[in-house]
Parts: sequence; C-alpha cells; structure tokens
Amino acid sequence: APGGRGPNPRLGFKAVEPNTVDAVTVPKHYDHRVVIRWGDPVAADAPEFDFAGQTGEAQEKQFGYNCDYVAFFELDDRRGLLWVNHEYTNEELMFDGYTDGSAADLEQIKVGLAAHGGSIVEIERVRATGAWKLVTKGERPYNRRITATTPMRITGPAAGHRLLRTQDDPAGTEVLGMLNNCAGGTTPWGTVLTCEENFNQYFVGGEDAPAEAKPALRRYGIATSGDTREGNRRFDRVQERFDLSKHPNEANRFGYVVEIDPLDPTYKPRKRTMLGRIKHEGATTRITEDGRVAVYMGDDERFDYIYKFVTAKRYREGSRRHNDTLLDSGTLYVARFTGNSPDEEIDGSGALPSDGRFDGSGEWVRLCDNERSYVEGFSVAEVLVHTRQAADAVGATKMDRPEDFEPSPVTGKVYCALTNNTARTPEQADEVNPRANNKFGHVLEITEKGDDAGATAFGWIVPIVCGDPEDESTYFAGYDKSKVSPISSPDNVTFDARGNLWISTDGHPGTFGNHDALHAVPVEGRHRGELRTFATVPAGAECCGPYITQDQKTVFIAPQHPGDGGTVADPVSTWPDGDFPRPSVVSIWHTKGKDIGF
Ligand code: FEO
Ligand code: CA
Ligand code: CA
Ligand code: CA
Repeated sequence: APGGRGPNPRLGFKAVEPNTVDAVTVPKHYDHRVVIRWGDPVAADAPEFDFAGQTGEAQEKQFGYNCDYVAFFELDDRRGLLWVNHEYTNEELMFDGYTDGSAADLEQIKVGLAAHGGSIVEIERVRATGAWKLVTKGERPYNRRITATTPMRITGPAAGHRLLRTQDDPAGTEVLGMLNNCAGGTTPWGTVLTCEENFNQYFVGGEDAPAEAKPALRRYGIATSGDTREGNRRFDRVQERFDLSKHPNEANRFGYVVEIDPLDPTYKPRKRTMLGRIKHEGATTRITEDGRVAVYMGDDERFDYIYKFVTAKRYREGSRRHNDTLLDSGTLYVARFTGNSPDEEIDGSGALPSDGRFDGSGEWVRLCDNERSYVEGFSVAEVLVHTRQAADAVGATKMDRPEDFEPSPVTGKVYCALTNNTARTPEQADEVNPRANNKFGHVLEITEKGDDAGATAFGWIVPIVCGDPEDESTYFAGYDKSKVSPISSPDNVTFDARGNLWISTDGHPGTFGNHDALHAVPVEGRHRGELRTFATVPAGAECCGPYITQDQKTVFIAPQHPGDGGTVADPVSTWPDGDFPRPSVVSIWHTKGKDIGF
C-alpha cells in the first residue's frame, strides 16, 4: 500500500548522512523551521529577550532553557498548544564569564531557577505547510511558565509523610517547583506527565545532613562528603531550602512524575508520589484490558530499574474530575528479566546466543499499592520515597540506563531505550543487557502477557543493539547491516501512526564524532531493523522531542544544549541565529505534504 500501511511498514525517505554541520539537517523533500527559542515571550507581558541583561523576573515570563520532552495538543485545525520541558541550564553558555554558582551574582541564580521547569505556548500553523510559529498577538489564555519555584501539590500515599515535611512546609503537602524534567508522556484525559530526573545536582550541604539521612541521599546520587558547593549552581544562595545541612528532607520532595493540565491555566501541578521517586526519565501511558491505566517508567542511572504503575480505578472518558484521582491509587511494580539462553552463551561481546535472539520472559514485581507494602521493612510511604532501595530489596534487574518508553499504536508492544552503560563488565552482561562496556546502548521490546498492559508477566526481546553497523557487536533485528544508519545512545522515543519507531539520541558526538540525530525504524514485517537517520542537530546538542502530530504532517524536535562544550566567549555553536546558541523547538515537514517518514 502507498506509504507502507499494513503489515510491512517501511520508510520512504533517503537517510541523512552523519555530519558535523552546526544546523538541523533533514532529508531531501523535507524542510524545517524554528518554532520557539529560549527567551521568546510566553506571558503576554514578557519583556524582549536581553542576553546581556537577563533577569529572573524576565525569564519567568520567557521560554526556558534546554528543551527536552515535547507534546502537542490540537486546539483547532490551525492552532495548538505546545508543552515543552526545560530540563536544566548551561550557565556557561548563558552568562559571559560565568565560572560557578559560588561566584555567580544572585540575579544569574534567579535566572537559572526560572529557566528550569516547562512551558505551555500557543502556536499556529504557517499556512499550508507543517511549519508552525509562536502566536504572539491577541489572547493566549493557556500560555504558562512552570519553574523551579512554582507551587505544586504533593499527592498520593506519601503526601504528608514525615520524610516530606520541611520547615517551610510542615504539612509535607506543598513543594515549590520541579527540577530536571527530562522526558514525559501524555494521559488519555489530556494532561502532561513531566518527569524529574537528575534532581540530585541541585542540592548542597549533604556532608552535614543527619547521619541517618545519608545512605538514602547517596543512593540517589547526592554527595554526602567533600565540598558539595564546588561546581554547584548554588540555588541555596537564593533559597536556603537547597541546603541539606539545614533542610535534609527537601531532596525527598523531588524525583517525581508531575501531572499538569495544559488546558487549565489554574491547575496546580501535582507531584504524584504513587508513581515512586526515582530519576524519572519519562512516563508513558497505556490502557489495560479492563480499562485501567498503566504507566511505564525508566530510572536513568547505570544499573537502575524499569518500573510500571497500574491504577486501581478505571479511566472514565470525559470525567476530568474522576481522572484527576487516577494516579493517586494503584500498584507500583519493578521489572525482573530472565533470559532463555544459557548464561555461558552471553559473554558480553554482543554475539548472539545459539537460539539467535537476546530474549526471554519477565515479571512485574509488586513493590506496594496505596494500602500495602510488599517490601519487608518498608512502609507504603517509604517505598514511594525510597523507591530505589525498595527495588534493590526485591532483586529487580539492573539495566543499562533505562530512558524513554513508547508503545506501538499498531501492535501494543512496548519499547524502551537503554542509552548506554560503559561500567557493565563481561561478568555482569546478561541476556537483557548483553553487551559489556555498552557504549552505544540498545532497544528493548516488551510484549505483555495477553497484550494486556495490566499483566504481571511479559515476554521480551532486544531487537536493536546500537552502534556503527560495521561493528560486530551491533544488531539490527537481523536486517542487512549495509543498509542501516549508525546510531548511538538512544534516548527519547515515539511512534508514527503506521508503527515505525522514532528514536532520538544523546551520545553521537562522544562515540562517533558526528552530531546527535533523530532516527526511524520499522519494528514489524520485512523491514524490521531498517534504521535510517531522519535529522541531525547542531553542534553540542542532543536531539530531544520527538513528537509526531496526530495528522502525521509535522514532527517536532528539540535540539537540547546546542553549543555544549563551549562558552559565551568561545562558542562551539551559533545556532539558530548566528550569534549565541539558543535551545529551541523545531518543526519538520514534507514539502509536498506527505506524512512524516515518507
Ligand atoms: Fe535527561 Fe536520561 O536523559
Ligand atoms: Ca535467547
Ligand atoms: Ca533523556
Ligand atoms: Ca516518548
């Protein structure tokens, strides 16, 4: 069939060659346009961006830094809302002469706080193409900035627990801001799930935290010895709560999935404790056979885990009020994987075992539900705040940095990007993480028992072991490797409507010397494994997004941290305007209006 609908989906574009061009590059017959840049107006009264004279007050009204997850909500056939995560800040690219947070002036630290979080902006189609632009005139009732200081409600079973209480919030139910929001997802009821990842880097004073708090701080990567102020952004110089020697529980209030309603500007963001506290990469939903909602989540750290949450209650279409309660009760699981090939056949080289597949079975191991803990020595609230330690206790499978998830809209199979793990030794290689010194990462495919997202058992296979196809340790589902593009460090993933998997990367420069990219690959039929590069991003950037609109005519990508590795005085990127680098969101479309990928 034209465009490859049906059992053998395939792609219709010619792959972009790996390159080091300081620009977004797209295939022949495609075009692209910057939709919104760091500093562009979000609030109606936002001042014009002034690079040399930035203030926290201005940044709170302007588009934030380092765009990661992108989602799009159609308002009508001409307009829509873009949700964008602002994961973190590169102060050395934002402020001329910046050295570190201890030397920074306080206004720069305020800009940093305000440049984190997320943005909701109204965008409109540029007539007859997949180009979109920011709406800057007239009423924009939905436009909103969420920052590292926006008040949020803590909900679910851990809300109010002693581990979440602080001097500023003795009830343990309200926190200011969200930090390091990496990937995310949307819900069937139209909200955004935005996920706090490397929140550990914002705290100081761990060396003087109470002794009983230190093991848990360390398990989440928060330093508890040495000079914790050195090289830190020093948010504590503006808000003392970031100093753990004085406010040791503040760190327990970050690391959650945050729910935000883009269509309700008055909605107070909710930190959903029921989904656990980890370095949440993303959160991707799927409806179970019986109408409940499953959420797939990765904890992006070497040797950390894959999680699933399943709601207790059913999703009710159209009942906004009911659906707002769904993520506060249910069951939290962690994944345990078992390979089906003999251990001695998995030697860490990436060589396939004798059955020709890295595959096996798995179980979702219960950690807790909203009423009961299934982990000895942990209460429900302790499972939800010290989720990593609870998962350690049940012997979950240690993975190669689980990043984003996405289910195929065609088959229901669920895909996870495992970005890399150079610390895995040959002895630690197992069938689901089969390569030692895993520099390039791999892709995991999970088939739930009975194709039910609520199942507690599943089958799995590793369809792609990433890298240069000429490298023997790579595998592209058995496809002819002379016909595939190189890929390193898969990160964010999405699907097109035909069931092709789209993978953006964060690691090409360090491994291949060329720039990060967006790739597409069929995962069913004769072309399974035929991976092609669709776009590349500017110097220093990782490729985030990607989001393909419902009509399949636009893909949004977010080149994050363009210019990384340089400084204001010594830039390595001048994208997109030819002066200083600005993290931005870009739309890409086919010039003859074909669907993305064809
Ligand atoms: Fe923020 Fe795991 O990438
Ligand atoms: Ca096998
Ligand atoms: Ca990521
Ligand atoms: Ca995704």
